[in-house]
Amino acid sequence: MALGESSRIPGFYKLKFNQKLTHISELTGISLERLNGAFQSLHMAQTGIDELVENCIGALSVPLGIAPNFKINGKDYLVPMAVEESSVIAAASKGARVTYESGGFASELLDNMMIGQVQFSIRDEKDADTVRDKIASYEESLLSDLNEVIPGMVHRGGGVRAIYARGPFTYQSHTFLVIQVDVSVQDAMGANVTNHVCERLGKLLNRMVPGQTNTCILSNLATKRLVHTTCRVHLSEIVPEHEWDDAIRRFELVQGFAEVDPFRAVTHNKGIMNGIDAVLLATGNDWRANEAGAFGYASLSGRIKPLSHWRAEKPYLFGELQLPIQLGIVGGVTRIHPTAKLSLDILGIEHGKELAELVGAVGLAQNFSALRALAFEGIMEGHMRLHKKNLKRHKTLAE
Ligand code: MEV
Repeated sequence: MALGESSRIPGFYKLKFNQKLTHISELTGISLERLNGAFQSLHMAQTGIDELVENCIGALSVPLGIAPNFKINGKDYLVPMAVEESSVIAAASKGARVTYESGGFASELLDNMMIGQVQFSIRDEKDADTVRDKIASYEESLLSDLNEVIPGMVHRGGGVRAIYARGPFTYQSHTFLVIQVDVSVQDAMGANVTNHVCERLGKLLNRMVPGQTNTCILSNLATKRLVHTTCRVHLSEIVPEHEWDDAIRRFELVQGFAEVDPFRAVTHNKGIMNGIDAVLLATGNDWRANEAGAFGYASLSGRIKPLSHWRAEKPYLFGELQLPIQLGIVGGVTRIHPTAKLSLDILGIEHGKELAELVGAVGLAQNFSALRALAFEGIMEGHMRLHKKNLKRHKTLAE
């Protein structure tokens, strides 16, 4: 933006797509051609994807690649991953390849419930007992009342399954209970459904018990949507037999580092999320919800821990990963955005459960490759190989 120009644009959101673009072009001095080219603006307007967010003027392209070699619960997959970091897809494919001959990944979505929360102010412990008792004795009628606001979800076999109180908690001069709902969300991410239920519950509570509803919102600490994934890697996939003991020592050390040191645990988990976020982005899912959930889950003990664990028992290295996964294959943008839709078609996935299980496997494959690189040649060798390739290509394109 030129110096001295104001960023206040009253009514900007009301302008048509092309008018917004022209406005930005005039304000910044950047030509319309350049904006169109870099932001694929025309394509956005033609496909209607611009309507997904306010004040859209284009799109940012992120490379979309395919990670082959995945076998999960006995089924083979080509995994679409959208990510800008050059080594991620290569590492996921390599990690999957070494598990392939040993049967691939076993992955299970343990439950599929989104948690919703209503913060409910009360005067004292006595009120807390009254609220708890009332919720317990009216649970059945509350459940049917709440399910009435989400008929579509109930029709698909989901719905509110439980209501319970946590607390009381105190903050400054305030005392409140947290009334939680467990909502079975089937193939959806379930954010809107859960928020809808929370707001309805907030209104009902105001009417039926002493106190006052404040915040109503889902929790991204989705401990009732955990995915548990395991795999085994034959040590011969890593080193020749005479080096197995050395390889085991190296893996134990790199795992142990993350177990004892929070600074390392965060990076260890970042490596897992490299793969997970890339699949979530490719399929139009909310990776921020999953980042938040994974971090919270890793910190549940009061100290951040690695989400995955590797142990050796010759001739195998056994890997295990458990974390909350919140995603959907219906609702949101998953079926509106053509790339997200295409990614789901490439995967050949028909249920959210299957996608969640796949995502767990990608996280574990990604983590294996990172730890393997760290335990042996170091991370820079692979990174630099790809980085140099990119630099060379940029130089060629610029010439
Ligand atoms: C880089 O994006 C991810 C790693 O740092 C993960 C790890 O250290 O485990 C390589």
